[in-house]
Amino acid sequence: MGLLDGKTALITGAARGIGKAIALKFASEGANVAFTDLAIDENAQNTEKEIAAMGVKTKGYASNAANFEDTAKVVAEIHKDFGRIDILVNNAGITRDGLMMRMSEQQWDMVINVNLKSAFNFIHACTPIMMRQKSGSIINMSSVVGVSGNAGQANYSASKAGMIGLAKSIAKELGSRGIRANAIAPGFIITEMTDQLSEEVKADWAKNIPLRRGGTPEDVANVATFLASDLSSYVSGQVVNVCGGMNT
Ligand code: NAI
Repeated sequence: MGLLDGKTALITGAARGIGKAIALKFASEGANVAFTDLAIDENAQNTEKEIAAMGVKTKGYASNAANFEDTAKVVAEIHKDFGRIDILVNNAGITRDGLMMRMSEQQWDMVINVNLKSAFNFIHACTPIMMRQKSGSIINMSSVVGVSGNAGQANYSASKAGMIGLAKSIAKELGSRGIRANAIAPGFIITEMTDQLSEEVKADWAKNIPLRRGGTPEDVANVATFLASDLSSYVSGQVVNVCGGMNT
């Protein structure tokens, strides 16, 4: 018996990184997994194969999460293919870092659109389905910098703080319909996104983390599994920091 047997999950931006780890963990707990990414290229096809190898139904869909119409279309397609959507993980995200003085309007708009508007798009398209099912679990991928702010990441931090406000509001608005919404705030997780940082920065990060290491995508996937499953049936509107004790 898996924790997610009989459930269908939709995860955005899951061709690699944290989204992929969540997809694999959900599949190992028995969930059918629909996932999106900008393109279903060789990498995404391999992700699809790895998920399918766990014996669940899965399909990757090419869609730009920042685009409202694209999202409505892909959610309708997924609903048709899978028959239901029980879990939505708004994971797609990017960084375009820079100090405020040098930040362009394009850097601001891109990060807000991909990181925050995407979650609005998917929640808007998925909640009518969840309301008819009278249940659903929504997980917004935030970040510790959405809680605490970060110099050089005003756009990213604002988008991630928005993910928390969005999850809390949905929790209050749709709780009576059996829909829960929570946010995960990962700290320093080792993926391609953070791999661009210099070795020095990475070593410095680890030194300042109480658990003395960067997190793994699986560390985040475990918490996502808890929030997606009925183990958290009385947990809604919360932010779970997965940061090795960095934010307390
Ligand atoms: P990643 O860059 O490895 O993966 C992100 C995925 O999202 C990629 O497959 C990418 O193609 C996809 N994506 C980007 N724009 C998209 C769009 N418009 N539509 C659909 N898909 C799109 O990143 P990682 O590290 O796996 O991050 C996943 C989430 O976790 C992001 O929201 C990120 O902000 C968040 N996060 C990551 C942390 C870290 O330390 N890696 C820390 C805190 C939060």
